[in-house]
Amino acid sequence: MKLDPKICRNPFVVSWLALMVAASPVWAATPGKADQAAVHPAKWPAARSPIGLDKATEAKITAMLAQMSVEQKVGQIIQPEWKTIKPEEVIQYHIGSIENGGGAVPGGNKHATVKDWVDLIEPYYQASVAPGQKVTIPLIWASDAVHGHNNVYGATLFPHNIGLGAANDPELIRRIGEVTAAEVRSTGMDWTFAPTIAVARDDRWGRTYESYSEDPRIASTYAAAMVAGIQGTGADFLGPNHVIATAKHFLGDGSTDGGRDQGDSTVSETDLARLHGAPYVDAINTGTQSVMASFNSWQGVKLHANKGLLTGVLKGRMGFDGFIMGDWLAHGQIPGCTNSDCSQAFNAGLDIYNQPQDWKLLYANLLRDVKNGTIPMARLDDAVRRILRVKFRMGVFDQPSPANRPATFQPIGTPQHRAIAREAVAKSMVLLKNNGVLPLKPGATVLIAGNGADNIAMQSGGWTLSWQGADNSNNDFPGATSIYEGLKAQIEAKGGQALFSPDATAPQKPDVAIVVFGETPYAEFMGDQSDVALHYGNTESLALLKSLKAQGIPVVAVLLSGRPLYLNPHINAADAFVAAWLPGSEGAGVADVLVGDKDFQGRLSFSWPKRPDQTPLNVGDVNYDPQFAYGFGLSYAQPAQTAQLPEVASTTKYGEKNVYFSKGTVWNGYGVTLSDNDNHRMDYVGTQTTLYGTAALTVSPQDDASLRAVWNGKTQASLSVGAEAPSDIAREANGAMVLSMTLRVNAAPTKEVRLGVGSASVPVTAWLAEASSAYRVLSVPLSCFTSQDLSATPTVMQLTTEGALDISIQDIRLGETKPGAACPTQ
Ligand code: BGC
Ligand code: BGC
Repeated sequence: MKLDPKICRNPFVVSWLALMVAASPVWAATPGKADQAAVHPAKWPAARSPIGLDKATEAKITAMLAQMSVEQKVGQIIQPEWKTIKPEEVIQYHIGSIENGGGAVPGGNKHATVKDWVDLIEPYYQASVAPGQKVTIPLIWASDAVHGHNNVYGATLFPHNIGLGAANDPELIRRIGEVTAAEVRSTGMDWTFAPTIAVARDDRWGRTYESYSEDPRIASTYAAAMVAGIQGTGADFLGPNHVIATAKHFLGDGSTDGGRDQGDSTVSETDLARLHGAPYVDAINTGTQSVMASFNSWQGVKLHANKGLLTGVLKGRMGFDGFIMGDWLAHGQIPGCTNSDCSQAFNAGLDIYNQPQDWKLLYANLLRDVKNGTIPMARLDDAVRRILRVKFRMGVFDQPSPANRPATFQPIGTPQHRAIAREAVAKSMVLLKNNGVLPLKPGATVLIAGNGADNIAMQSGGWTLSWQGADNSNNDFPGATSIYEGLKAQIEAKGGQALFSPDATAPQKPDVAIVVFGETPYAEFMGDQSDVALHYGNTESLALLKSLKAQGIPVVAVLLSGRPLYLNPHINAADAFVAAWLPGSEGAGVADVLVGDKDFQGRLSFSWPKRPDQTPLNVGDVNYDPQFAYGFGLSYAQPAQTAQLPEVASTTKYGEKNVYFSKGTVWNGYGVTLSDNDNHRMDYVGTQTTLYGTAALTVSPQDDASLRAVWNGKTQASLSVGAEAPSDIAREANGAMVLSMTLRVNAAPTKEVRLGVGSASVPVTAWLAEASSAYRVLSVPLSCFTSQDLSATPTVMQLTTEGALDISIQDIRLGETKPGAACPTQ
């Protein structure tokens, strides 16, 4: 409950409140909610790891625990990111594991080699085993190898999970797990934060592509197959070519209301268990050693604080004997916690804190909590026992250092590995429509068009070389094949000709055209949407399809996307339509089916919508009415004609969540406001607007889709972007994101200019100091504004000056941090 500070200052109200709280502890505890979120482990399915406890190992661990200091134990339960820790601090703080987050590549160089990675890791490991310690515990290293070893230059990139789900081939999944593990091992690492076994139920969720299926059956079968592939089984369990797997994110990450990333799930306990818990049973039954707790809440309680689910269900009912890894600063979202102070999560059952930033403070606070009994020693011992158990199972106590292991430096991105990825691509392709144009006829002249045709970044999606995967180009992917390159090779091999033209302006009329288009890369909450429409490139791609059609050219549309999308106008405009998902580095797999060397085998593992607002949409729904049902997919063996599909006229302005202003439009319910110190306030509604009274600021739309803002220099005025409901950008600020503005300075400022978010601001005068004819990108880390709570921010951008200034703004959004982004000081 939030109290209005004015009410609090009233002594009568304060004493009344105190009375209520004191006299009515039941009211204070909001019993309704607590009851609702109660967990009943006995109602959940049981599981049983095939590994079992080894008596001798457990005895060794008992002996080690007896010798370890509290400091040493606390060090094991904290995981920093390498960027914030020096090797010598590993020994000083007894750190047990380190991660590299998405894009945290050695030296900030995304072309870093395998050797660069091993050189990065080795000193940290060496520090952990430095002589002179009473108990020596080698450090382990984790990375998000979520579609292959995707942070590493030259690695094999597999289709994202949504495409693998369509392939519905568990044996293939096991082989993908094996190859991924081998490539992770090559770089000297021990552990991957994969597989994601979420069952995504609302495709507005930005992580839908990380989910195998909306149906727990595929997710469960795959959970087992992927864990088996990554970790190995039987005598090969955690053998030299395998690494620790992480089933994530426990629990209900795919069940949040509105598909909001890190949001709240209000499903019943029965559905939570049946739909979302099921894959964990299979992951545990195959021996997964790590489970990552989720950012989301269930019925209002954050998973990181949910003892009933973490301890009662996962460790109790499901008998999970490995460790629970935290997600990126997720414990800090628990009410009453901060990123560096949160015994609640640990007491709920978390075993390792994910603290990539201020881990030293967390270390100090945890030591305090153990010493004063807030964290019971038994709980600490339990967590450390689990960590040591997994380290023993992994063999880290007997292995040579990362640089000296047999699997290290084994080649990555090999033809054998890529062949498996190519097979997966071909199998993941779903044919939604084919009115006779596919397969391509041998000898045909084929025009290949669309912004996705020769775009390996777009076909790979998020979690590729960087977290968002948004800033890559083809030369970042040695050994990879774009869809165009794959098609060209195979069309020519069959005596045909491939013409390449992204905008379809070929000099000669082709026999057939292929248009590759779709979503551009995103990860996590950056991909959340308010609907299941295609945002950017929707109009352009449709125009392309229609213009080819108008010229009498048969068209094949190939969609790159991380979720099913309402695209009936596109499907109608094309003669064939293929959902290619996010295939990864082996574009040749797309050609394999389009030229007819292989038949389509993919079947929808997600229901396909009829309308942009038709979500959630899942197989088994009452009144289930999809455009293409779960399990749908045509093939050459079973062809069918598709009639025109119903089109929905829509006036909604679709926008990406963290885009505020772009292409001349204010998105997502945000608005632009002009204000001054005399309490004048006006909304910009798309036409030239001058602040009444002082005329201190004028804003007008420009032909290049920018917004021109001119301050007259007579009195202080602000240009702001905000929404009616305050914005929650706390998570974005935590995740090191930046406020990024593409702007041009027409006339330099005459006085200080401040850029604000909420109530905090920084000067940007120096950055604006020179007028020029070019647009530049101003990137300011959101962390520059975290002196306040950013979970309810009225303004997400505010430019203020008392002086004169003339700028044109083309784009305002939140983006991924670029190296070198710092808080401006002048
Ligand atoms: C991602 C990390 C990434 C970081 C950047 C996190 O949410 O999972 O891998 O490096 O944000 O801000
Ligand atoms: C993501 C996880 C990921 C972690 C580490 C988080 O933001 O939610 O899936 O494993 O970062 O990069």
